[in-house]
Order: sequence, then structure tokens, then C-alpha cells
Amino acid sequence: MRRAWCPLASLWWLGCSAPGAPSAAATPAPREAAPATVEAPREAAPAPPQPLDACEEARRAASAPRPTDPDDLLFHVNRARAIPAEYPVSSTSIWSPCAPTPAPAKRTDDLVCIPARYSYRNREALRSVAFESDAPSSPSLTHDGLPVGRAGKVGFKALMDDAAAAGHTLTVRSGFRAYTMQSATFSGWVAAELAQGRSREYALRKVSASSARAGHSEHQLGTTADLVFARANGAVYDGWAQETIAESPAMTWVAANAHRFGLVMSYDKDHEAITEYVWEPWHYRFVGVAAADLMKRCGWTTEQYLDARYGEDGPSPVKRARREPAGADHSPRVH
Ligand code: DAL
Ligand code: ZN
Repeated sequence: MRRAWCPLASLWWLGCSAPGAPSAAATPAPREAAPATVEAPREAAPAPPQPLDACEEARRAASAPRPTDPDDLLFHVNRARAIPAEYPVSSTSIWSPCAPTPAPAKRTDDLVCIPARYSYRNREALRSVAFESDAPSSPSLTHDGLPVGRAGKVGFKALMDDAAAAGHTLTVRSGFRAYTMQSATFSGWVAAELAQGRSREYALRKVSASSARAGHSEHQLGTTADLVFARANGAVYDGWAQETIAESPAMTWVAANAHRFGLVMSYDKDHEAITEYVWEPWHYRFVGVAAADLMKRCGWTTEQYLDARYGEDGPSPVKRARREPAGADHSPRVH
């Protein structure tokens, strides 16, 4: 079978051939020639080292310390791993980058209120690096041969612009959330369950499956956004039905292209047991093109990628955290 040509020279060992190179099938097998004289058997030359598959190579290279700074695009947050309480503002601050109040902390410098046309209903905020940043100059193509970024840029804006060029309308429904906002989000969902006559225990269990406790949400990093799409008639779909969202042309396009922009779906359908959140086909995090491309190629969720990169760190902190008691407050309708 003819091997595919890989656009990246570094991927030749993944089964790629040079463009135009004859394939094994196209080249006739050489006939064996009878040896003219009988020679003593020579010692076999050592086999060349087998190149590692990129995913295995990433796993073996695991040695870097896990980042402790939440500004790091690969900061690890999940049910057990919390974001420092004062990041980027105090856990009691209700500050928003879109409110006309001065930024209370230097760490908020990078948060921008994104333009209204990229923001659904409210004015949402993201770290500027996640909204729009320079595409890496190399490689210029992802592992599957797709171009990196758009017009030299990566991040949510470049994704939404490229989606628009492909005929899809997307906006950010929920971007950066301060600790207080995440707390309100979680509590709002709990309140909605209680209003339907559910018990508190049931409400907390149900909401915990799809909403992070304050201190544990990727939204608090400012690099994560929930996306909504508009149908062809312009109507925004603002429900939460997973299949409806995932199967829409717009979000199908996003799932296939997000890695080009350094974005990953954090909670995918096939890894619920690992992420311990239900499938959220709307929730994307900016991790940079190299990480996003590797995760896409290896079929890894962020948890698996970070464990591959930094090494596993003991028995399932994610599962331990499940036993934590839950709390509550009040909220807008976002996950
Ligand atoms: N819905 C995700 C888990 C969050 O609340 O961050
Ligand atoms: Zn989200």
C-alpha cells in the first residue's frame, strides 16, 4: 500500500513517504542473485533504532514538573487540583474585565473583554493569548495536514473567523469566570434543581457531574470558553443537548478544526470516566497548537496529555475529590 506523504519532515517515521517517492507496491521486488562465491557469514549489522510513535515518545519523555503557575497554558486543574484561591483576583472579588472598574490585580493585565460580535448576549472576557495570539511559525501544518491557525493567528477569535469563512456562526457564551462567578454558576444550577422539587443531595450530585466547584473550573484560567452556534436561519441554539450541539454542522466543524487553533474539547464523550465530567461538546480550552495537535493525534483528553507530559502523580486525585462535600450559591445559565 502506498504510504501517505506527511507534510512535516519530522513525521516520516509515522509511515509517511517523501512526495513522489515510489511506494513499495509500485517498485518491483529485486530478484535474488546467486552468490558468486561462498563467504563466511558476517556478523549482522545492528538494526537501526526504531523511531517511537509520537504519543509513546511524549509519554516516555514525561519528566517536566507540573506547572504551579496558573498563567501556564498547561496548568492542571480538575476536581482535585485547584487553582490558587487568589488567581487572578481574590476569591471574594466580583470583578469582571468587562466592568468599568479598575483591575484589582496585576495578574489581570492579560484578560480582555472580547468584542461584542464574538460574545453572545453578555460581554465575555478571555486572556488575550487565548483569544488571539501569533500562530507558531513551525510547523505550519498539523499532523493531519491542516493549516495551523488563520491569517497567522490562533485562539478563539481565529477559530471563529475561520468558522465564519466556512459558513458557521459561533460566539462565546461564557469565557473567563472569577471564583465568585464560578461559585454562582454552580449554585444557580443547584437552585434550579431544588426549584423543581429535587432533594439537595440529588441536586448536588447531578450538578457536580457537569459544573465545577469554585476553584476547580478551567473557566477561571481565562483560557476556556463555552461556544454557541447559530443555525442557518440565524437562530442561536442556546440549549445544552449534547447530541444536538455535537452534530450541528458548526460544532462538527469546530471538533475537526479546533487543534489548528490550539484548542481542545476538555470533556469529550469517550473520556467521561477519566475527566469525571459529562460530555461537554461546547467547552474548549486553549492549550497551544503543539499540545492540542498531539492530543488530537493521540486521542487524549487533557488529563491524559498532562499525565503523559508530567507523569502520573499518585492514585487518582480526581476520584479522591469526588468525595468532597459540596456547597452552593446562585447563577446565570452557563456550564
Ligand atoms: N462545566 C465545567 C466542568 C466547568 O464548570 O468548568
Ligand atoms: Zn465550560
